[in-house]
Amino acid sequence: MDSESNKNDRFSSLGFIMSAVGSAVGLGNMWKFPYITGQYGGAAFFLLFIVCLLLIGFPVLLAELAVGRGGRGNASSSLTKLSGSKAWGALGFLSVLGAFFIMAFYGVVAGWTLHYAVLSFTGNLFENGDYAGLFNQFIGGWAPIGWQLVVMIVTVLVLIRGVSKGIERFNKLLIPSLVVLLVLLAIQAMSLQGAGEGVSFFLKPDFSKLTGESALVALGQAFFSLSLGMGIMVTYGAYVQKSQSIGSATFAVGLGNVLYALLAGLIIFPTIFVFGIEPTQGPGLVFVALPAAFSAMPFGALFGGLFFVLLSFAAITSAVSILEVPVAYATETFKWKRNSAVLIIGALCFLIGIPLSLSLGGGADWMTINGKPVFDWVDFICSNIILPVSSLVITIFAGYVWKGAAEESGLSAGWFKLWLFMVRFIAPILVLLVLLYYAGVIQVG
Ligand code: PFF
Repeated sequence: MDSESNKNDRFSSLGFIMSAVGSAVGLGNMWKFPYITGQYGGAAFFLLFIVCLLLIGFPVLLAELAVGRGGRGNASSSLTKLSGSKAWGALGFLSVLGAFFIMAFYGVVAGWTLHYAVLSFTGNLFENGDYAGLFNQFIGGWAPIGWQLVVMIVTVLVLIRGVSKGIERFNKLLIPSLVVLLVLLAIQAMSLQGAGEGVSFFLKPDFSKLTGESALVALGQAFFSLSLGMGIMVTYGAYVQKSQSIGSATFAVGLGNVLYALLAGLIIFPTIFVFGIEPTQGPGLVFVALPAAFSAMPFGALFGGLFFVLLSFAAITSAVSILEVPVAYATETFKWKRNSAVLIIGALCFLIGIPLSLSLGGGADWMTINGKPVFDWVDFICSNIILPVSSLVITIFAGYVWKGAAEESGLSAGWFKLWLFMVRFIAPILVLLVLLYYAGVIQVG
């Protein structure tokens, strides 16, 4: 498929919603959202998160989709086309660059989830009981590179087939499977004796924990969780048909994402609390705490295996969306054929992923900067600097520069006014605060 035919390759309306949900639902929902909710005030934090989504996340998501569909280009060219200025395209390019590097490390982590699914089903995961040791030994070795390759091959095979036959079909298959697994695992976790303690850690409202810091954390998570600032929604927006309402799509994607995050918490916390394991966040939660819990559970190998399959499905549908960002850029800018673009960019991300992955094992000196593995640095720079800056670019662009947003959004006059107010005045200020907070420039109590 060449870049010309790619132009008319569009999502069906359900296919688009599933693909956007597939992108939004990812590792962030599983290992970050549940823990920060528990830590920053349970149901009170959850409410705050919903407020952030409604007031800022949804308007920016809608802005990204509208810019993509209006410009019918990639995450950089859409801005150039709509403004007539290459400078905006250059700012948009930042998200293409971010997407490329995010794919390099996200592919590594997605590989870990596949490995753990296999380890769990075979029962090998539960052999020696030292889950932290096992995990640390695994991630710093060579084996993750093989798993990263598997993830990359799957992602490449999906993308080579294009938008409707590749991305859409894949998500239409994986999202329903993901929902079945999620519901099954949630019922299983909630029926464990003593599950209530986990639910209470996750959701018990504690309004005294709502501080400036928790608000910024909620906001950062709302952005990450909707896959904003990565060029994904602009790129996917270009494949949305004119007849689809992007207002309703925004709402459906946001709702799907929240429900998923909620169910993920209802699986994770009951499971670990029942077995007396301390909650934590990040890789430690899913690769260390959860295996310990599964090992103590009847049919733990089965439920653990299913859990890691769920996690890898969530990760791969997000990986597909992020690799499409540089692929769309390359087919349009360099006029590469789609096949070549997917293969070249997939291969480059894989190659960059190798040192990132090896840096986690201590690696050579050049693999660490200030004592931190380059893996962590790339994650930090992409997630905490590039994503908020790109989000800022898109809000300012949609709010002040591009005048066609009203028509493209299809919103009624009242909703449009509200949306414009949010993207003009509220979102840029709050995104800037998140950026300064994560960059360590400001501290809040
Ligand atoms: N919304 C995704 C998540 O919560 O994991 C964010 C994401 C990260 C999307 C990495 C795509 C990606 F490659």
